[in-house]
Amino acid sequence: MSKSVVIKGGTILNQDGELRADVKIENEKIIEVGKNLKADIELDASGCIVTSGFVDLHAHLREPGKEEAETIETGSRAGALGGYTALVAMPNTDPPQDSVAVIDFVREQGKRAGLVDVIPSGCITLGRQGETLAPMAELSQAGVKFFTDDGFGVQDASLMRRALEYARGLGVTLAQHCEVAELTKGAVMSECQCCTDLGLPGWPAIAEELMVFRDIELVRITGATMHFLHLSTARSVELVRAAKRDGLPITAEVTPHHLSLTQELMASYDPVYKVNPPLRSIEDIRALKLGLLDGTIDAIATDHAPHPRRDKEMSLDMAPPGMLGLETALGVVLAFGDLEIKDAVALLSWNPARIAKVDNAHGRPISATEPANICVFDPELSWSVDLQRLASKSTNSPYVGRTLRGKVRHTIFKGTPTVIDGQAQK
Ligand code: DOR
Repeated sequence: MSKSVVIKGGTILNQDGELRADVKIENEKIIEVGKNLKADIELDASGCIVTSGFVDLHAHLREPGKEEAETIETGSRAGALGGYTALVAMPNTDPPQDSVAVIDFVREQGKRAGLVDVIPSGCITLGRQGETLAPMAELSQAGVKFFTDDGFGVQDASLMRRALEYARGLGVTLAQHCEVAELTKGAVMSECQCCTDLGLPGWPAIAEELMVFRDIELVRITGATMHFLHLSTARSVELVRAAKRDGLPITAEVTPHHLSLTQELMASYDPVYKVNPPLRSIEDIRALKLGLLDGTIDAIATDHAPHPRRDKEMSLDMAPPGMLGLETALGVVLAFGDLEIKDAVALLSWNPARIAKVDNAHGRPISATEPANICVFDPELSWSVDLQRLASKSTNSPYVGRTLRGKVRHTIFKGTPTVIDGQAQK
């Protein structure tokens, strides 16, 4: 029998309200919520919010194939430190997640690490090549519920239409990386006056918006469920808003970095700010935030994209796009997101748990008999990133030198603390 745990003196935040009480956990479950509870391990939660563990719809864990950048274990640890209890693992591994063997491997490595639920996504197309559909039925039988070619968008409209028809039959969700590739060749930053001044090739907003538009219309004729990954432009938000008004089964996410960093940072020519889709304008940020407030955008997902120093130190055109996200998401969202704490938790936990279809175990209320996947965070604590102390194997965080607000104190995964007082437990 595992040791019992009590979380003491915090404010429990559930969808139906707040409550000051202790939370007692035993054998992977919450067994009691009440006053003056005792247990083998006591975790102090004074000044903290006690809520369901976060669920990331978008984490690049790099294993198999790029273990130099991250492994499932180091990514899981970074996730736990960020308050996550479940991570959807993106499929652009090597080999890619387009076969049951690779899906099983990723899931097993996740279990071996034992720090979060690692939920492998499956590729939409074989090898993410955009030419032939992956064996979606077989993958779905192996438990995959979320399919994407992330890193690339599916360019071929007829293939995407077919994928959506299959997805509808299988009851799975397709997640699209919205980028019309012909429009972004060689691009390194958002197309704007600033990119012209800097002499850098620009990435037009329409490259994203055209695909958002196309896929909304494909959802309209197929009735399949679709999730839009890392939306970055004001017009994308408008398109999704209108599609939702029409009742289409669409959800969407934004990243912490697209809420907090602007394209002007590229004036540093520092590849740490190179990301796909690129950082955008302050007007886009405003529109993304409005989208969060009115429910157009359902989730904040990290797009945690570790890259080895050697790769990120190349010139802007050669360096791969991507930024770390798991350990800083909460601090960035509370510092820059202009959100109420409850809305932030909805976007980081309750909604993504539903989208990933893991809401039987994650994003649950803090209440007796529920699975003990819990995040305890101090919403006011200011802190800054210390690259030496990151759990991630990579260091490509754009937040060095910026003050973040809100920090995870404890994370509990399946009843066991994975993080205590901000320290990973294994
Ligand atoms: O910046 C990004 N990096 N965006 C993506 O879509 C892929 C990711 C990666 O895998 O590095």
